[in-house]
Amino acid sequence: MSTDYDAIAGDYKRAKQQPWRSFIEAFTLMELVGDPTGAAVVDLACGEGHYTRRLRLLGASKVLGVDLSEGMIALARAEEAARPVGVDYLVGDCRELGLPGEFDLAVAAYLLNYARDRCELAAMCRGVAHCLKPGGRFVTANTNPGLDFDRLPSFAAYGFDVEAAGALREGTPITWTFDLEDGTLRVENYHLDASAHEEALHDAGFRDVRWRLPRLSPLGEAAKGRAYWEPFLSHPPVIFIECRK
Ligand SMILES: C[S@@+](CC[C@H](N)C(=O)[O-])C[C@H]1O[C@@H](n2cnc3c(N)ncnc32)[C@H](O)[C@@H]1O
Repeated sequence: MSTDYDAIAGDYKRAKQQPWRSFIEAFTLMELVGDPTGAAVVDLACGEGHYTRRLRLLGASKVLGVDLSEGMIALARAEEAARPVGVDYLVGDCRELGLPGEFDLAVAAYLLNYARDRCELAAMCRGVAHCLKPGGRFVTANTNPGLDFDRLPSFAAYGFDVEAAGALREGTPITWTFDLEDGTLRVENYHLDASAHEEALHDAGFRDVRWRLPRLSPLGEAAKGRAYWEPFLSHPPVIFIECRK
């Protein structure tokens, strides 16, 4: 995990304010989550709690956020202290959590793309499966492993850029650069192809693995017009997976 989130926790939180995050990312992720009312939910790689809080506010009965970064969890806990919604947080590595398998739903926005090789991906998927009850669901957002970097449109209008450090093979670094008001923020994750994800999920005990394309919310379409979002939607830099244990 080469991106040190402790050092960039505040900037990452600011980068979540870009319009595509709510109009596409959150809209699609929450559509896939469905109604979490009464469910026990674990938000893995929860960062500063962006989706953790939302899952609780949507009615999940118990929500635990887990992240490797103490800096991210410190921000999440500070927000919970300032405006409590009833979420617990834990600093931990999703590959070796050892939580009891008591959750109905695991959500992870941008966890699997931190695996540098198939071995790490397998460990992450096993870690996710371990938290879930039999029949529990896993819903995740990820850098799109099918992105064609040779035919990429500019994503500058959305406030970010995404680049691959060479030909796509296992572990090729993928760098996201987000525009902030006072500079840029770079985070690095890693390429593993779709079949590697499917194999790791199946080996961890998941079935019904489905890839889902990002969807634009009606509010996003009304705010900017369909044409504005076309480059994003026709070359989606993010993708979603849902599956069941
Ligand atoms: C791009 S951020 C996403 C945060 C949050 N899910 C969101 O959407 O705002 C990725 C997060 O993954 C965390 N992370 C990376 N590898 C992890 C691991 N093995 N276990 C737990 N967290 C991890 C990082 O610390 C970072 O906070």
